[in-house]
Amino acid sequence: MNLMRSYSLLAPAKINLYLEILGDRPDGFHELIMVLQSVDLADQIEICANGTQTIHVRCDHPQVPGDSSNLAYRAAALMSQQFPDHFARLGGVDIYINKQTPVGAGMAGGSSNAAAVLVGIDLLWNLGLTYDELQDLGAQLGSDVPFCIAGGTALATGRGEKLDALPGLDNLYAVLAKYRTLSVSTPWAYKTYRQKFGDSYLKETALDQRRQQVHAGPMMAAIAHRDGAQIGKLLYNDLEKVVLPEYPQVLQLRETFQQIGTLGTMMSGSGPTVFALAESQAQAEHIKQEMRAKISDPDLDLWVTRFRQAGIQVIE
Ligand code: C5P
Repeated sequence: MNLMRSYSLLAPAKINLYLEILGDRPDGFHELIMVLQSVDLADQIEICANGTQTIHVRCDHPQVPGDSSNLAYRAAALMSQQFPDHFARLGGVDIYINKQTPVGAGMAGGSSNAAAVLVGIDLLWNLGLTYDELQDLGAQLGSDVPFCIAGGTALATGRGEKLDALPGLDNLYAVLAKYRTLSVSTPWAYKTYRQKFGDSYLKETALDQRRQQVHAGPMMAAIAHRDGAQIGKLLYNDLEKVVLPEYPQVLQLRETFQQIGTLGTMMSGSGPTVFALAESQAQAEHIKQEMRAKISDPDLDLWVTRFRQAGIQVIE
């Protein structure tokens, strides 16, 4: 068997076109219904068999830890536990993360890095895991990891780990806006949401009914028709209800996008990234320029990115 010793993978970020919190789950998480979309903005992950019984993570970004608190590290640790014979025989991995996606941003950057490590180790160790096996391993690491493996456009239910692929939206672009030094804690956002809105959480049959309504609802129809204008109008995120009042800068980004005029604007995930939809690259670049003209703060990062059809991709 001739095993490759290293792989290079693309780990794309995602945005949420839709995020509705339905209720509580017995595992302490929330029952969600989301529409997730991969974007071209991606980190590059180098993963290399190191021939020792250790795992190393390195990233030049100051906010990305190199220890076991990094989800990419935990992905490698999970693989070594699940496949101890391969770990003993072939050794651990050195992981280098070339960070291009915003950190602590609500764009699943960390989850996507972990997804790339799962795919990379599957290849390095020649495990031949099925799609379902990779998805199960991903779900053990985080709710967004299964989507990050698959990518594209998907309806996500459960904790976010149950996926139904939706028709691709390669005709759309997003402008992303994030203050570099601002992050929002995802556990805080969900906990605060429960404190404020827990009384109205749906239970059992009402949960099923709501899922069916969304499934048969206008957002799914707009996606089926690849109708960017309609998708823009139907963007939705329950977590805005707790993040916008607490973080005026996030509200300001959203309001500024609204003033400029876009297909639609929304916070992604638990924030603080706010995105605006555009139907062409030229329109997206124009929105980005207008944004820069209206907010001159050097802490504001802006990106133009295209909707992407795939998740983790091996590039070498
Ligand atoms: O799964 P992940 O590690 O990304 O989740 C981060 C946090 O977000 C969880 O610890 C939980 O507080 C919250 N969460 C939730 N319900 C979900 C997903 C995440 O309450 N479906």
